[in-house]
Amino acid sequence: IKPDGVQRGLIGTIIRRVEQRGLRMIGMKLIQVSRALAETHYSIHVGKPFYDNLIDYITSAPVVAIAWQGNKAVGVVRQVLGATDPTAADPGTVRGDYAVDIGLNLTHGSDSVENGKSEVNLWFTTDELVDWERVGEEWVFET
Ligand code: RTP
Ligand code: MG
Repeated sequence: IKPDGVQRGLIGTIIRRVEQRGLRMIGMKLIQVSRALAETHYSIHVGKPFYDNLIDYITSAPVVAIAWQGNKAVGVVRQVLGATDPTAADPGTVRGDYAVDIGLNLTHGSDSVENGKSEVNLWFTTDELVDWERVGEEWVFET
């Protein structure tokens, strides 16, 4: 949850949408992002025209970092968040319901399992991650 999501009081709303979909939260923290962390996280975007704005944006106020686990977690989270540009995001998605401009699009979601693993390792230490199961997961995830 990016700084605009925190500032606008949407932390609970955004978490609830993913949580109710059935994914399992295994890590969560509110943090003020350093420029170093921002630059590592967004290193793939170095040199793009929006890069400097993106670093300023993500370090401008606290964010909530969350690690989600479960079948198809990457795709499910990105579906709940909606398209990068909020004007292209479907109604019913976080960005489609609550955002307008691409530079204030409320959320980040990892774009592949591989990047998801490295981003969880970037944002969390091992002892900040919890190995657990929610009750009733057999009613959400086929084995
Ligand atoms: P994210 O990484 O934040 O989950 O978003 P994404 O995969 O949907 O989009 P990505 O292409 O990875 O871009 C990262 C973030 O950079 C900002 N952006 N601004 N002004 C622009 O044209 C532009 N393009 C991207 C957005 O905040 C986007 O989420
Ligand atoms: Mg991305």
